[in-house]
Amino acid sequence: MKHVYLSDLANFLGQEITIKAWVFNFRSSGKIFFLQLRDGTGRIQAVISKNEVSAEVWQACEKITMETSVEVSGQAMEDKRSPFGYEMQVKDLKLISIAEEYPIAKKEHGVDFLLDNRHLWIRSERQTAILRIRDEIIWSMREFFRQQGYVLTDTPILTPTSCEGTTTLFSTDYFDEKAYLSQSGQLYLEALAMALGRVYDFGPTFRAEKSKTRRHMMEFWMLDAEAAFVQHEENMEVQEKLVQYVVSHILRNRARELEILKRDISLLEKVKTPFPRISYQEAVDKLKVLGSDIKFGDDLGADDETLLTKEFDKPVFVTNYPAKIKAFYMQPDPTNPELAMCDDLLAPEGYGEIIGGSERVWDLKILEKRIKEYKLPQKDFDWYLDLRRYGSVPHSGFGIGLERTVAWICGLDHVRETIPFPRLLNRLRP
Ligand code: 4AD
Ligand code: MG
Repeated sequence: MKHVYLSDLANFLGQEITIKAWVFNFRSSGKIFFLQLRDGTGRIQAVISKNEVSAEVWQACEKITMETSVEVSGQAMEDKRSPFGYEMQVKDLKLISIAEEYPIAKKEHGVDFLLDNRHLWIRSERQTAILRIRDEIIWSMREFFRQQGYVLTDTPILTPTSCEGTTTLFSTDYFDEKAYLSQSGQLYLEALAMALGRVYDFGPTFRAEKSKTRRHMMEFWMLDAEAAFVQHEENMEVQEKLVQYVVSHILRNRARELEILKRDISLLEKVKTPFPRISYQEAVDKLKVLGSDIKFGDDLGADDETLLTKEFDKPVFVTNYPAKIKAFYMQPDPTNPELAMCDDLLAPEGYGEIIGGSERVWDLKILEKRIKEYKLPQKDFDWYLDLRRYGSVPHSGFGIGLERTVAWICGLDHVRETIPFPRLLNRLRP
């Protein structure tokens, strides 16, 4: 009999088919067995009546445990009363594998227990909804950049230098020298922008930052975008268009998953360009009024970002931070060289930074000076300086963190659920 995935069920109603699935719930009334099944692509209730199946099938039903895998055959029908919209009247059932006692029960578990069992936890309806949204966000980002004429390029993970500062590098032996895991593909992407005009990369990045917050991971996915001849203002326009595109795409294509997560979509519907822009100076002034003890020259802490974004119902750009608290490659503000031509995009509802971007230093002398000031190894940056030696042009780019974006769009209170197997300060397993 034809094996049908539940996602395709609508095309096979009333036909004799086989569904292969796991039992995520079951009950029996003595004469009828109700199996709630999931096959990864959808969910359905299967009904087995003692009078309508063989004695063997009925005996098999009695062996079923949570997460037992089964094959059921029969006809599926639409059923408005069923929570899944469909029901199957089972004529035949085969056990594929009887599950041992499943560790994740219906009762509430602590998050550490769930993370220890992450390989099983990902089967739950909520986790699969998040992972489907993650997938859709990735596709929508790629689609956006393709429509805008950007070329997807891949930057290396093993690198001899840092991009975002030397204090948060994971290092590894590269034969007889040290290599570092990439913190961002940006520097290589700048070279690619000089070759292809507009480019992006998308891959895992690593930060050995001993932060245990709801937004920090040691390994996370970042999309870096870079464009030649683009300056600060236009760079922000690309970012806001991207974010609006992604959010509206998810609202359109993942409504069911947002519902499972009980996401308040009215908040996401407000994510329309233009996003407000405030300077770092304005942000600091505002934060002081809101009760923060931030001083000019301090980086915005997570609490500051939370406080600030609660004031806006759209993502907000904070621009022109003091150069000292930002990376070496940022172009100085022509009106005040102490400031950088940069922006952080903070997501609303307290989520905080999801994008970091800037115009890049394109003058050779200024960049050489910066590399010295930041005590970076000149020789390893020589190729990067070449980009300023051979036809340097203004250019800008940004990096968007996937997990923080997923956490915000899904309305989660921690990034740990946004990636299949999170790498956190105290978690390398499973
Ligand atoms: O602001 P960041 O550090 O910027 C860069 O790395 C630039 N080189 C990007 C560029 O201009 N091409 O990181 C970019 C984004 C942050 O806004 C945040 O969303 C995410 O990456 N991010 C993290 N996400 C999870 N855990 C961490 N430890 C993160 N660090 C940064
Ligand atoms: Mg940043």
